[in-house]
Amino acid sequence: MGSLNLKSIRKAFGNHEVLKGIDLEVKDGEFVIFVGPSGCGKSTLLRVIAGLEDATSGSVQIDGQEVVNTPPAKRGIAMVFQSYALYPHLTVKDNMGLGLKQMGAPKAEVDAKVAKASGMLSLEPYLARRPAELSGGQRQRVAIGRAIVREPKLFLFDEPLSNLDAALRVNTRLEIARLHRSLKATMIYVTHDQVEAMTLADKIVVLNAGQIEQIGSPMELYNKPANTFVAGFIGSPQMNLIEAGRLGEGQVKTIGIRPEHIKLSRDNGDWKSKVIHVEHLGADTILYLETEIAGLLTVRLFGEHRYDVDDIVYASPDKAAMHRFGADDRVLR
Ligand SMILES: Nc1ncnc2c1ncn2[C@@H]1O[C@H](COP(=O)(O)OP(=O)(O)OP(=O)(O)O)[C@@H](O)[C@H]1O
Ligand SMILES: [Mg+2]
Repeated sequence: MGSLNLKSIRKAFGNHEVLKGIDLEVKDGEFVIFVGPSGCGKSTLLRVIAGLEDATSGSVQIDGQEVVNTPPAKRGIAMVFQSYALYPHLTVKDNMGLGLKQMGAPKAEVDAKVAKASGMLSLEPYLARRPAELSGGQRQRVAIGRAIVREPKLFLFDEPLSNLDAALRVNTRLEIARLHRSLKATMIYVTHDQVEAMTLADKIVVLNAGQIEQIGSPMELYNKPANTFVAGFIGSPQMNLIEAGRLGEGQVKTIGIRPEHIKLSRDNGDWKSKVIHVEHLGADTILYLETEIAGLLTVRLFGEHRYDVDDIVYASPDKAAMHRFGADDRVLR
């Protein structure tokens, strides 16, 4: 079991309030991802859940039990950090088994659990090495292995892959997804990476300045952003957010249209535009347009397209895919 319930969590450092009333329910076995701009409080929230930081007020319940006064080691949580935090003088095997050993587990049990975790993470060839003799990706797998060995109710990951190169990130991401399926454990994971968030999460929590902007499945957030912040934050390239005044739509303050929901033509269409920049990504072409009526516009076309800077084109948004936001920046339904 590993459900988590946060109620009205507030945290201030001095008179700087960093978490401003967080309510969140995580079900047993769920994979929940926290995203949000740098400094919005993601790591602080993880640390409050782990007990490494005391909340100023509010309640943290694990499996229905209040844990705000329970020390970190007794919460049944394992945390994996961006910096692997391995002991340099210990072998991989001893790094992985240390937590259990310190809790007084018999050697046979420690060995069996380390063997199982190292099998899951393909770490068997490295068990006798020290961290300095491993690559970054291998070190991060050891840090994850150390968490698995403790069989926690709840795994907390704070940007675990951000030190890895692109190819390794993809591999390790797949490994974490597989791990989640086989362990069926509850995981809470902080990332800046859109692809990680969209592919790993059952549920994404979008944080901004210490508050939750929206909670939903990746597709809910992508298709039904509740406000302009989430609309602009989820999706890459970003959704176009156009001042509606220019398009003459009454109570609508902002119109949102994703770059992939705009068609381009050289001959005719809704918004006459000039191409100001083109990015050829191979699978996609991203165009940046200057339009008279809608301002700066990003368009994403599937495949390769031969547009050049200063070309005149016509952009036509898919009207059914438009999002409309009111004066309070919330979506109008
Ligand atoms: N121990 C501390 N003392 C004072 N202020 C702190 C402390 N820890 C964090 N803060 C502040 O709290 C805010 C939130 O920090 P936090 O590390 O939670 O952000 P984050 O969302 O994890 O950012 P990032 O994406 O850059 O990791 C920041 O303004 C930070 O400066
Ligand atoms: Mg952080």
